[in-house]
Amino acid sequence: MNTKSKVIVTGGAGYIGSHTAVALQKAGYTVIICDNLSNSRLEVIDRIARITHQKPIFYQLDITDREALNEMCQSHQDAVGVIHFAAYKAVGESVAQPLKYYHNNLGGLISLLETMSYHGLDNLIFSSSCTVYGEPDHLPVTEETPVREAFSPYGNTKQIGEEIIRDTLLAGGMKKALSLRYFNPVGADPSALIGEFPLGVPNNLMPFITQTAIGIRPKLMVFGDNYATPDGTAIRDYIHVSDLAEAHLMALEYVIKNQSPLPYDVFNIGTGRGYSVLEVIQAFERVSGLLLPFEMTVRRAGDVEKVWADTAKAESNLHWKASRSLDEMVASAWK
Ligand code: NAD
Ligand code: UFG
Repeated sequence: MNTKSKVIVTGGAGYIGSHTAVALQKAGYTVIICDNLSNSRLEVIDRIARITHQKPIFYQLDITDREALNEMCQSHQDAVGVIHFAAYKAVGESVAQPLKYYHNNLGGLISLLETMSYHGLDNLIFSSSCTVYGEPDHLPVTEETPVREAFSPYGNTKQIGEEIIRDTLLAGGMKKALSLRYFNPVGADPSALIGEFPLGVPNNLMPFITQTAIGIRPKLMVFGDNYATPDGTAIRDYIHVSDLAEAHLMALEYVIKNQSPLPYDVFNIGTGRGYSVLEVIQAFERVSGLLLPFEMTVRRAGDVEKVWADTAKAESNLHWKASRSLDEMVASAWK
């Protein structure tokens, strides 16, 4: 791709968006970030600049604010693609405040699609999730694995979001789009200048482990030790956020260059290998040389037992494959 081609990245100050902005700028793109900073900080923009020696163009705006979004897109109608991360992502909060999630995640998506269509912007990459598969009958999950009824409003926003994009494409509102169904992103850029900084008590395993190790949390509670897995704890497909960021780069180039059989397509983005909670704890102890205080407790409501990806479709079409190990994921999160 042409160096200095522009890419619009919504939610680009967030965890996955900031790592993707780094991957894009390292590959020669000019990144236009829009973010309302509801779950991120302005200093991330400077940190992306420190890593890549290029400052992304930044707009502090809410994508549900159509006027602001329209103004930004007006200035960047020559962008070659749009990568859409901006959304709320706390599963438990979405159960308590569903309308907040439907408004932001679906209202934001609709606002973006209408604005893209108005300005003739094409080539959308959407952040979806393996949560759309629920508890699958067969593993690993392929893109053909049936989508199951969502167990949370958050999960529902991903399922409905995918459908909204598909229908928009079928109606000719845009030419090409992909949804990437992420498995469990963890870790950080090797510089440690950007990473995962959840506000308040973390919901996710890796930030809970690192915050326990530095003494902010007294101990990690392991949710469930009686699953039908080799050590009784739940299994997930953890993927290094830098591998995930590179998947966006490859997906963008794929969607720009190719007309897939359908204008809309979905890809699993994982490593193809699952690890249990205990295996992640062991990796952390191995990498950090620390003993992590933890205690077994009851299962967390809504958790699936085990899930990992079949990544063959992404490998053959996007020419992308995750390369970083669990130890690298844990070490970078710890750093
Ligand atoms: P994040 O919260 O770190 O990043 C999202 C960013 O979007 C934040 O910077 C936030 O300020 C911004 N944002 C939210 N609503 C906005 C709005 N209306 N207008 C402008 N900016 C807005 O989350 P993340 O982990 O980087 O996730 C990125 C995307 O990937 C989300 O869509 C999320 O649902 C999806 N996803 C994440 C995971 C995960 O485990 N982290 C897994 C699957 C899918
Ligand atoms: N876990 C613990 N203790 C904790 C936190 C997590 O034992 O304090 C366990 C969970 O029970 C699960 C595993 O660690 O077995 C991973 O949990 P995470 O919360 O890190 O990740 P999830 O797989 O539950 O959820 C992630 C994203 C969601 C998304 C889901 C499916 O955080 O946004 O994947 O895509 F919906």
